[in-house]
Amino acid sequence: MFNKITVVGAGNVGATAAQRVAEKNLARTVVMVDVIEGIPQGKGLDQWQSAPIEGFDSRVIGSNGYDAAAGSELFIVTAGIARKPGMSRDDLVKTNAGIVESVAKEIKRVAPQSIIIVVSNPLDVMCYVAMRASGFPKERVIGMAGVLDTARYRAFLAEAMDVSVEDIQAMVLGGHGDTMVPLISYTTVSGIPVTQLLARDKLDAIVTRTRGGGAEIVNFLKTGSAYYAPSAASVQMAEAIVLDKKRILPCAAWLTGEYGLKDVFCGVPCKLGRKGLEQVLEVTLTEQERTDLHKSAEAVRDTMKSLG
Ligand code: LAC
Repeated sequence: MFNKITVVGAGNVGATAAQRVAEKNLARTVVMVDVIEGIPQGKGLDQWQSAPIEGFDSRVIGSNGYDAAAGSELFIVTAGIARKPGMSRDDLVKTNAGIVESVAKEIKRVAPQSIIIVVSNPLDVMCYVAMRASGFPKERVIGMAGVLDTARYRAFLAEAMDVSVEDIQAMVLGGHGDTMVPLISYTTVSGIPVTQLLARDKLDAIVTRTRGGGAEIVNFLKTGSAYYAPSAASVQMAEAIVLDKKRILPCAAWLTGEYGLKDVFCGVPCKLGRKGLEQVLEVTLTEQERTDLHKSAEAVRDTMKSLG
């Protein structure tokens, strides 16, 4: 158990993440920080009052400032505006870069040794903004996207084959956008290559649906984007760190030559433990997957350029 985990942003993703962190007893104190007066306090108090029923001891508190977050070992940053129908994640870049930059500076001020999990969109570029503004090493700034994209992919596959989601092993790499790269070559059902169980056209349709998985939900909700699965994904990463599990999860990491990519955040297989990002695993990709990964990284770079 950590002493303190802070979730920045008390909107749908942030508040749901805080609740999941508390319900898993990952920290003695869970702080929710948001600029909107009363919202983090009210949601925090409400969550804390669910503790006697749900049986967790994490004390949830809300605050409009960062002093309450002082000494947090881990931050989950969800601050920023969400997509509306017709918007791409990249449309959020200008507004959210300003927000994430000021958040990262505050994190550096109150908890210079902490680990940051970035959830704000456009994800890969916001990771870069957070790393630049905090000055933290790459081991301590990690982006949540691959776990979410992979969860969507696994859910669709489980549905198509009528099997348990638990038995689907898979990884979606690349940037968190339309260019993401679901790795069919590493998708198995309890070790059985998925290509032996599902026709290629069905697989391709699932890959396409996965790439548009976020937009599919935005189109339903109209006023915002997904939050149950995104919060679950960020908390799975937090749990791997808090419990030093050394889990291998697809996360956005700052690359320094892995997969032939450098100076860019991109989704790759990562080992997560108490130190944060403990290793980037380099695995063999098919020619097509490698090309697609590079294309995806290029798309991230293009959005990075708009930051100046
Ligand atoms: C999604 C948003 C959170 O993929 O990026 O649902």
